[in-house]
Amino acid sequence: DHVGQRAATGALPPWQRVDELVLEAYAWARQDASGAVADYIPALAQADPDAFGLCVVEVDGGTHTAGDADAGFSIQSISKAFVYALVCDELGHAAVRERIGVNNTGLAFNSVVAVELNGGHPMNPMVNAGALATTALVPGGAPDEQWAYVQDGLSRFAGRPLALDDEVYASESATNQRNQAIARLLESYGRIEVDPLPVVDVYTRQCSLVVTARDVAVMGATLADGGVNPLTGERVVSAEVCRDTLAVLASTGLYERSGEWLFEIGLPGKSGVAGGIVTVAPGKAGIGAFAPRLDPAGNSVRAQRATGYLSRVLGLNVF
Ligand code: DON
Repeated sequence: DHVGQRAATGALPPWQRVDELVLEAYAWARQDASGAVADYIPALAQADPDAFGLCVVEVDGGTHTAGDADAGFSIQSISKAFVYALVCDELGHAAVRERIGVNNTGLAFNSVVAVELNGGHPMNPMVNAGALATTALVPGGAPDEQWAYVQDGLSRFAGRPLALDDEVYASESATNQRNQAIARLLESYGRIEVDPLPVVDVYTRQCSLVVTARDVAVMGATLADGGVNPLTGERVVSAEVCRDTLAVLASTGLYERSGEWLFEIGLPGKSGVAGGIVTVAPGKAGIGAFAPRLDPAGNSVRAQRATGYLSRVLGLNVF
């Protein structure tokens, strides 16, 4: 696996070379057909298991793609990173640390036991409990206003209006009893202070937004660029919020596999069960990868491999 590890110093290679390396990473990761498409959300089971897209967007806007970089998929848990950034921007560092937490649970993303073991604390914003607690804090009060805020905010990260996948939303709404239970549990501990079921609904919508690997790379590049979208030039969140968000991604973005991810790839990242992964090389670039086959922790196999390859050959590992 350890092809030509490049030192993490200096700038990226010239764009022609990055173009070639993105194609190389794609071809290399494509050889791995292991893993299984998520099926606990019925609509996700219909995904083409062989779809695979890769995109790097540099902080100057330079864009490099391979494969199905413009194929749509539901953002799923990748949304957690960006909703967290938006909520941090509203509430500030101390409040989100106290209310949502920043520590890894060591347990699966949808664990109920993790909440119980921690006295009702959601622990971190990247597991479902913490993401639900985060969405509950989205400004607006009424669920429709909160949803408008989330959709608009994630669209500003992507630099284009993001739309809902109605089929995924309906499918997940019909099967999200576990998230409803987690939200009720958090309510019982006073960790969600509003009606929890509308919170689950806004969360389910945010997970059902359609993105492409290119969108995800732009969203990551916005975090890499200190909160300014490199394509639109718009400031979406502050530089301080980017730092806080990236720290949480480094420790919890790949759930109980976050340590292995950091050890191999050395960058903050966030996965989603539709097969997407966003990775952020601070000051350099965002990487978007999409391939539906997942490992047992719910992380895309090909997306992890392609991102690891790029981290090594581009010298992105921050350590
Ligand atoms: O709440 C859920 O279970 C899904 N909407 C999102 C889970 C997810 O993406 C986990 N990631 N790998």
